[in-house]
Amino acid sequence: MLRNKKIILGVCGGIAAYKAIELLRLLTKSGADVHVIMTRAAQEFVAPLTFQTLSSNPVHTELFNLIAEREIGHISLADRADLFIIAPATANIIGKIANGIADDMLTTTVMATKAPVLFAPAMNVNMFTNPIYQENEEKLRRLGYLFEAPVCGSLACGWQGEGKLAAPETIFEAALAALTEKDLAGRTILITAGPTREEIDPVRYISNHSSGKMGYALARTAHCRGAKVILISGPTSLIKPGGVDIIEVTSALEMQNAVMAHVSECHVVIKAAAVADYRPLTRNLTKIKKSADSATIEMIKNPDILAGLGALDNGLKPRPFLVGFAAETDALAENATKKLKEKNLDMIVANDVSQADAGFNVDTNRALLFFKDGSSTPCGLMSKDQLAGSILDHVVARLAQH
Ligand code: C5P
Repeated sequence: MLRNKKIILGVCGGIAAYKAIELLRLLTKSGADVHVIMTRAAQEFVAPLTFQTLSSNPVHTELFNLIAEREIGHISLADRADLFIIAPATANIIGKIANGIADDMLTTTVMATKAPVLFAPAMNVNMFTNPIYQENEEKLRRLGYLFEAPVCGSLACGWQGEGKLAAPETIFEAALAALTEKDLAGRTILITAGPTREEIDPVRYISNHSSGKMGYALARTAHCRGAKVILISGPTSLIKPGGVDIIEVTSALEMQNAVMAHVSECHVVIKAAAVADYRPLTRNLTKIKKSADSATIEMIKNPDILAGLGALDNGLKPRPFLVGFAAETDALAENATKKLKEKNLDMIVANDVSQADAGFNVDTNRALLFFKDGSSTPCGLMSKDQLAGSILDHVVARLAQH
């Protein structure tokens, strides 16, 4: 996702400096070429060698380094950067940059860069709420600097409150967003994800193997590309994507209610959820006791939420662009195109869930995309994040004529 991107990671002297190592790993794993600059205080917390080894690039610590300065180190780094991330960013660095002080390698390079700069502050709660700090942050925000706000929690200094560095995954998402073209700006996208659970009694339910990974990848990517995202999620254990409105539901009926409550505000609906086709006819109020050797549960059909949206096409108001998913174990193309027509969709993503590297619960997928106009495109084996990008590329291309 970050291939060919040059990122400068500025690390300041706070106890959260060790978390910058995890962030560096996420960035390099995504293909970014990361150059680390450490302040003098940062080196008291973590050794430069750690960052050097994990970034495969020399770590910059000194403004007046004779080797790097042959090409004026801070200027050439600043010029080549696609993005600047400062994590953890201390009250000190934010105060210096907000007031034009450039007295070390990090502040000088920030001052010289034209790349977007993303701060992830971390500090004591009283420092964070100090009006001097708040004014500095406000000034930088006004000037277009980006911030990934700290979270609440127990701080290393013993205090409880706001000031804890955002999770490395969250900072990574914000970095991706800062580098992504906003081709979905102004669009609202509703995405459903995960399984539904249909309760039999207070302790048992019927569900499926959906992990929610595909829907969450779509939600993250659409948010990065500037869309307002409403994610209606069945039960999953995934990290919630930042910047996305999440509505948590359990059953198919709850999912239907949530979808119908929001569909009128949406330009696109992507139904990646694996909705249970049937639910128990009745839900026992108490736990069903074990007695007979066999048991039967009478099931009733759930409403088909997507088909319901397809049927909204009454010619009065343009309905949202509808994208369905077809998880199949056989006759993939045939079953998918049948669903595309029957549910009156604009596009369907078909994947063969009988393969080990595609479909439920894995990080990769292999899909075939079918469109209303009869055309189709294969998407070979790729990560769910990459597939999310391809699906949204097609949505963007076709939304213009929708
Ligand atoms: O017909 P099938 O269930 O295989 O269709 C899958 C597509 O329909 C998915 O996009 C899924 O989210 C959606 N669906 C739905 N409501 C159901 C069942 C499936 O919206 N009750």
